Amino acid sequence: MSFQLVLFGGTGDLAWRKILPSLFQAYRHKTLPVDARIIGVAREQMSNEAFRTLIGERLQNVEGEKRPQSAEFKEFAKQLYYQACDLNNALDYDALKQKLEEHPAPLRIMYLATAPHLFTTVCEHLGACGLNTENTRIVLEKPLGQNLKTNREINATVKNFFSEKQIFRIDHYLGKPSVQNLFALRFGNSFFEPLLRRDTVSNIQIILSEQIGIGTRGAFYEQTGALRDMIQNHALQLLCAIAMEPPINAHADAIRDEKLKVLRSLKPWSAESLRNNIVRGQYSAGLVAGEAVKGYTQESGVAPASQTETFVALKTELNNWRWAGVPFYLRTGKRMAEHDARIVINFRATPHPIFRTPLGTANQLVIHLQPKDGMALHLFAQGQAPAQPASEAPPNSTLVQGSPQVAVPLGSLVGSPSPLGPMLSPVQLDLDFDKRFGSDRVGAYERLLLDAIAGRLNLFVRSDEQEAAWAWVEPILLDWETEDAPLYPYASGTRGPSQSNVMIASSGHHWDED
Ligand code: BG6
Repeated sequence: MSFQLVLFGGTGDLAWRKILPSLFQAYRHKTLPVDARIIGVAREQMSNEAFRTLIGERLQNVEGEKRPQSAEFKEFAKQLYYQACDLNNALDYDALKQKLEEHPAPLRIMYLATAPHLFTTVCEHLGACGLNTENTRIVLEKPLGQNLKTNREINATVKNFFSEKQIFRIDHYLGKPSVQNLFALRFGNSFFEPLLRRDTVSNIQIILSEQIGIGTRGAFYEQTGALRDMIQNHALQLLCAIAMEPPINAHADAIRDEKLKVLRSLKPWSAESLRNNIVRGQYSAGLVAGEAVKGYTQESGVAPASQTETFVALKTELNNWRWAGVPFYLRTGKRMAEHDARIVINFRATPHPIFRTPLGTANQLVIHLQPKDGMALHLFAQGQAPAQPASEAPPNSTLVQGSPQVAVPLGSLVGSPSPLGPMLSPVQLDLDFDKRFGSDRVGAYERLLLDAIAGRLNLFVRSDEQEAAWAWVEPILLDWETEDAPLYPYASGTRGPSQSNVMIASSGHHWDED
């Protein structure tokens, strides 16, 4: 279907880093209707031609094969237009309306890639000049507010002008192929689902590590921090995806109803759990991938005595029948040792061991979100590898019959024959979805844009989900406003402050690192 997409914040970072490259990919994949018009909106005066040139230059920063060749960009650019607009000026909205009416299309999409404090202003103006018609959809970027109160205010204003089915709240993690695969894994296969529950699972870890710092977003990040930027939305949406009950069908509300139940069952914070189960940190200078980088407080736009966190690790639980008592550990940080996002399901040890297994290991299902997109199932098997020569065994140890690669301390064999069978070897079933399905699959933003165009709400967040997520993080935000909530420094290029290891170890677990 042909459409007009109005991109508020049309010259901003998000527009040229994510949205326009994704629209370009849709053009390449021939899923962008040739008569669709994309209208960039920003404050400065500019011609259509100047906007096309600007975007063309910016898109040269896109990495690898996704970077447009000049001939194909020239074709794509014919669909780009520009309209200057001061977002506080009613007359500018009239001019925008006139521009849209010159080339009517059956569908209009208003994409708000602006600072969130402008969302209500834009919606009010769109309403006032009659640009909130029934054939209009509105796409709202995160973060939607700074806390529960501001989130409610934004949602209430938007709902004055648009109905819930017209509102597309983005959490781009839901658009990632790996996250959609998670739904497929759980609800399109019969054998994983019965295992995902308290009887079989020891703990679940959601680890979102980035090597990048805050780049040019100092001013934004100072107001945001890792809890609002990554935990309140991305990490909690992943938690929902792994912990929710099977929805009754694949309709948006069936899925969102189940996610909402998870968010509402998050264990409320107490003074004790706020102190013991959360660690916040801030990166200092260090080495990331061999490169020296500065500390957070030396970044531009950041206050020298900033108390903003760039790292959060926390432990929570779900107060429901399926998951009661199973710890969920969430960890995210910038300037970490590696770029890695994964969900790790650690299963319980066998109830009655008759084999030996390497100390501290158990079955694991790892869902790799990025940079690798895949899944690994860690099992134990009786290996047939050649025996380790006796000369290589450490002193004070012997080789166990049938357990070729493991030397067992002599003391542990006293009183043999042992009731335990041979030592098993860890083995891995490893699926690489990039290899299987190709790495040029539809990316997160492209997927979400195509869904917004098609009116599919499945991968967008409903207002009640957002509120439940804000309600849960609010006590943490309030606690951090007090003087006695510690903020631990960590060197860039590490895995965050050591207190996060202490926190998880106090429950008898450890972070999955490999
Ligand atoms: C955004 C955050 O929502 O997600 C950024 O604002 C973060 O700070 C980004 O870097 C991470 O997304 P991705 O897709 O690169 O993991």
